[in-house]
Amino acid sequence: MKVLVATDKPFAKVAVDGIRKEIEAAGYELVLLEKYGEKAKLLEAVKDVNAIIIRSDIIDAEVLDAAKELKIVVRAGAGYDNVDLAAATAHNVCVMNTPGQNSNAVAELAFGMMVMAVRNFYNGTSGTELMGKKLGIHAYGNVGRNVARIAKGFGMDIYAFDAFCPKEVIEKDGVKAVSSAEELYAACNVVSLHIPATAETKNSINYELVNKMPKGGVLVNTARKEVINEAELIKLMEDRADLKYVTDIMPAANAEFAEKFAGRYFSTPKKMGAQTAEANINAGIAAARQIVGFLKDGCEKFKVNK
Ligand code: 3PG
Repeated sequence: MKVLVATDKPFAKVAVDGIRKEIEAAGYELVLLEKYGEKAKLLEAVKDVNAIIIRSDIIDAEVLDAAKELKIVVRAGAGYDNVDLAAATAHNVCVMNTPGQNSNAVAELAFGMMVMAVRNFYNGTSGTELMGKKLGIHAYGNVGRNVARIAKGFGMDIYAFDAFCPKEVIEKDGVKAVSSAEELYAACNVVSLHIPATAETKNSINYELVNKMPKGGVLVNTARKEVINEAELIKLMEDRADLKYVTDIMPAANAEFAEKFAGRYFSTPKKMGAQTAEANINAGIAAARQIVGFLKDGCEKFKVNK
């Protein structure tokens, strides 16, 4: 069996070594395709492989057509909006993610970005503290729970909204569960986004919603750029000079945000929430083990195209 690690944004070397160990211990061969840039290189690399480990790499119908021997794709990470699930199912390819494996890394970065925003991007002026401020966690999944855990250490007053998580589960963690996104944004000084990009959530973070935030509100996005209605957020930030937006997923309109909102907007150059050695090791090795479990024993735990 041949397993391809196709990562345009590579894992740390220590994680690749760990993945190789798992794959070779199972008697399989590991092939590495990193920083490939062009899709043509991916199409060539997938031709004879049985399994693929990816990150945010795009697996669409064209890639699946080219991968004639493919049985499984594991997204080493949480969000699998980069994989065409319907096409994978049509090709009889199992798709999995590795939930929870990189969530602490993303949560820590959310706080890095929060501190940067409330300290005025370290420009030497007086900022504010996070202690005592109201934090809104928008979606209480693996990352949201880690954000809540860290927020307790900062002494924040923590709120969360999750359309799919029962209020009792949220409140068990000492977090106030609210009934709607509108209620969350209206209550909180800082909102941290942890919703996936789905048909329902795309463009859902819009003018009306963010405008509910109190004066000086900070929106932190370590989720997906697609959930933001960029045109409406730009309009809102023009109308409200008090709002700040910090994101780990560069908007399509990055140049416009950067030019118009200098001093209250920041984007990382490349999504780096999960870019830690620990997250790479956790997610990469989990992906390798899931592949071995699937190919050897037919284990379908974490399959997402059921
Ligand atoms: C995820 O969905 O797991 C995160 O967004 C991390 O994505 P990455 O592996 O592309 O950094």
